[in-house]
Order: sequence, then structure tokens, then C-alpha cells
Amino acid sequence: MPDKIDQTIKVARNHHSAFISELSDFVSIPSVSTSPEYQEEMEKAAQKVAQMADWAGLENIRIFPTQGHPIVFGEWLHAENQPTILIYGHYDVQPVDPVDLWETPPFQPSIRYHYLFGRGASDMKGQIVAVLAALQSIRQTTGAFPVNVKLMVEGEEEIGSPHLRSFIEEHRSMLSCDVSLNPDAGMIAPDLPTLVYALRGLVFFELKVFGPEHDLHSGVFGGVVHNPAQALCEIIASMHDENGRVTIPGFYDHVRPLSSEEREELSRLPMGDDYYLKQTGAPQLWGEPDYTPVERVGARPTLEVNGLFSGFTGQGTKTVLPAYAMAKISCRIVADQEPDEIHYLLRRYLEQRIPSTVRWELNYFGGAPASLTDPKHPAAQAMKKALELVWETRPVLKREGGSIPVVGDIQKILGADSVLTGFGLPDDRIHSPNERLHLPTWFKGIEALIAFFYLMNTLQE
Ligand code: BES
Ligand code: MN
Repeated sequence: MPDKIDQTIKVARNHHSAFISELSDFVSIPSVSTSPEYQEEMEKAAQKVAQMADWAGLENIRIFPTQGHPIVFGEWLHAENQPTILIYGHYDVQPVDPVDLWETPPFQPSIRYHYLFGRGASDMKGQIVAVLAALQSIRQTTGAFPVNVKLMVEGEEEIGSPHLRSFIEEHRSMLSCDVSLNPDAGMIAPDLPTLVYALRGLVFFELKVFGPEHDLHSGVFGGVVHNPAQALCEIIASMHDENGRVTIPGFYDHVRPLSSEEREELSRLPMGDDYYLKQTGAPQLWGEPDYTPVERVGARPTLEVNGLFSGFTGQGTKTVLPAYAMAKISCRIVADQEPDEIHYLLRRYLEQRIPSTVRWELNYFGGAPASLTDPKHPAAQAMKKALELVWETRPVLKREGGSIPVVGDIQKILGADSVLTGFGLPDDRIHSPNERLHLPTWFKGIEALIAFFYLMNTLQE
């Protein structure tokens, strides 16, 4: 077995330029799931995934239309009596704005120093190509795969995977598996391979506040009409106390507390205040004082303002009392909070707190619950071994603050756990301008994935 791993890794090392060229083609497709103008590009990105699945050696490749963006499926099921691994990916990406801050255009992949720059390079087109490159290398070396594999790549993860749950429910047997491989979770540092065992969930909202029926002269009417921008800021400001705790009654009622063992375990991660200060460039950290930064990100729920809009924001000045204000708000939730519960609590809070000087509307865009996976699962152990083999250092276990909605769905509907890892780094600037992928780490990741597939073979012949 180690021979085959070594042999395959050698083959992979000879194909780095082919892997980069697949990735560049993929990154150059602007597959922004939230923007209606990219509809056709979503189709193209799905086709690109299908082509790469074929290149990797998968069979029965199909593109399933959904009510939203298509889902790509492929499989290879000739490893008798061996486990079946469902590989998950998403080909959609986040919007690119503010586009002016990109040093090179977001959809024109560019290699500078050790990085490939472009929207989606790290989250997660690079991770999808890494898995397919690993499979392609195995197929080139041995002509077959050591385990059964299925591939499911969706185009709506960055908008909360609204059509994936029903797709999984409708295709239960096609998707049945022993375990899922989810390479969308990233690592802590280039020398610290990481297995993630917890993800936060998410709920998104839009809060609109309406004041006068049209914009007003702020001199003629200021002082007699409640400015909706101000009313919105007042309500938003009231949602946290001075310690960074969310004040919405009931918000923390179902939060599962951390055990003292887990707190002890998490305190060993090299992610103290300094780490977060360096990663963010913020002048000081903020948040619940009774929890460490790692605990706040991994195991505590939050409420964030994602965007604010009201009145005049152009150059120069305008003395206006705006008619309208809007905020995009989302909450990261943890086990055992539910998206609908948070929606209910927020709506009740607004009903009780927003003054009758303005009218308001809360739109709920749904969400996904948090998920916990078993780090002792045999597949997680195989991944640990694979990462250790390549990095020659012990992988760390971590709770992640981001969300990947499919993990809970796969657990509930298919009864399968996920192995969460990935080769993106905290300074890859995912969701932000100048997203990039660290190529040396990515090449190592491909090698670890090769080792993982071999180590999942129960015979290890
Ligand atoms: N890959 C990320 C989640 C992630 C980020 C995991 C960093 C581990 C480390 C994923 O694509 C993502 O950003 N998800 C969205 C989901 C949401 C829109 C439902 C998120 O977390 O904001
Ligand atoms: Mn992702």
C-alpha cells in the first residue's frame, strides 16, 4: 500500500501544470450563485465540473437541473466490498465586490509568487480540483480506484444550499454512502493540517425600515419625522450589550455548552488573541469576555450586520431625510439552536422594540443548522493518517465558525458522517477581494487526498 501511495504521488507531481490549467479554466467562469445575471455561467461551471469528473475517471456523469442551479453527479462503483465515499463540493462562489480592490480581475486567474489569485480559487474550486486531481492520479497509476466513489457538486452553497436537501431526499439511493468527504473546511496554517469536527449553522435576514412616503428635505422636516436610518441603527445597536452578548431574549436558550474537556482541548490550538489580531488587522478584539476567541468562533452564536443601506452615500453632500433604510443581518448558530427558532425570536424582538414612528418588514431567507461530526470515525482517522503522512506532523482538530449546510443534511437524510478538511488557509481572503490559493499547500493537499483514498481501502492490499 505505501508503495502505491508513493507511486501515485510521483505521478501527481508530474502533472502539476495540468492541475493548474484545470483550476484556471474553472476559476475563470464567474459562477456567482446569488446574482441572476450569471445564470448562464452557472451552467458552464456545472459543465466544467462534469468534464473534470470525466477526466478524473468517474462514470455515469449527470447534470441535474433543480429549481435553482444544477447539481453535478458522477460515480465509480467497481471496488467490491469496499466503502463508498460521497465527495461533496460547490462550484458557486461569492460576489466579487468591491471589485476595485482586486489587483487582477477576479475571473482572470493569475499566478503571483506562490499563489493563484481569483474568486473561488480557495473557496472552493481549488479544493474540488484537488480531489479530482488525486483521483485522476490514482487512475493513471493503477487503472482503478481503491474504494467506491460518488461525487455531488452543487451550485448554491454560498446562498445556503436551498435546493440541496430535497435533491438528496429524492436521490437517496443514488447518493447512499458510508461516509462523505467534504474538503470545504480549510486549515489553520500551512504547516498544520486540520480536521474540522464542528461547523456553525446560519440564518439570514433582511430588515427594511420605512419612514415618510418619500425622501424629505432634512431642514424642512428634520425634527418632526423619525429618520428611518436612525431608527434602524437604534434597533441594531440594541441587539448587543456592552460585552458583545446578543440581547434578544431567548437567543442563548438552546446553546449546547462546551464541556471542560473540550475547552481544555481547544485551548491547545495555536489560535490566541495574537492569531486573530494578525489575521484580521483589527485594532483590538471584541466579543464575549467569558469565552476565548476560538470558543467564540467555534461554539458561540453571533448576530452580525452584513450590510447597511440608506439615503445618500455618493460623493459630496445632500441634506436629505431618507424614506427608507435597510440592513442585511445574519446569525451564526450552534448546536442545538434551530434556524426557525432564531427567526421567531428576532421577529418577536422587533415587534416589541421597533417604535411606531416607522413601519418595518423582516424578510427571512432561511438557513442551516450547525453540525457536529465524530472525529473518531474510521474515515476521519484515515484522513488524519493521510495528512500526517504528507505533512509529517500531527493534524489538529478544530471547530469551525463558518457554515456548510450540506453536512447536516447528509447526516440526517443519508445517515452518513462527513470528514471535513481542506487546503485553504486563513489568509486566503475567501469572500473578500484578492482571494488566492497557496499552491505549495494545495499540492500537498492533493497528495494527502491520494493517501486518504488508499487508506480507506479496508484490505489495504
Ligand atoms: N467554505 C466555506 C465555509 C468555511 C470557511 C469553512 C472557512 C471552513 C473555513 C463555505 O463555502 C462558506 O463560506 N459558507 C457560507 C455558507 C452560508 C452562505 C450558508 C458561510 O459560512 O458564510
Ligand atoms: Mn466553500
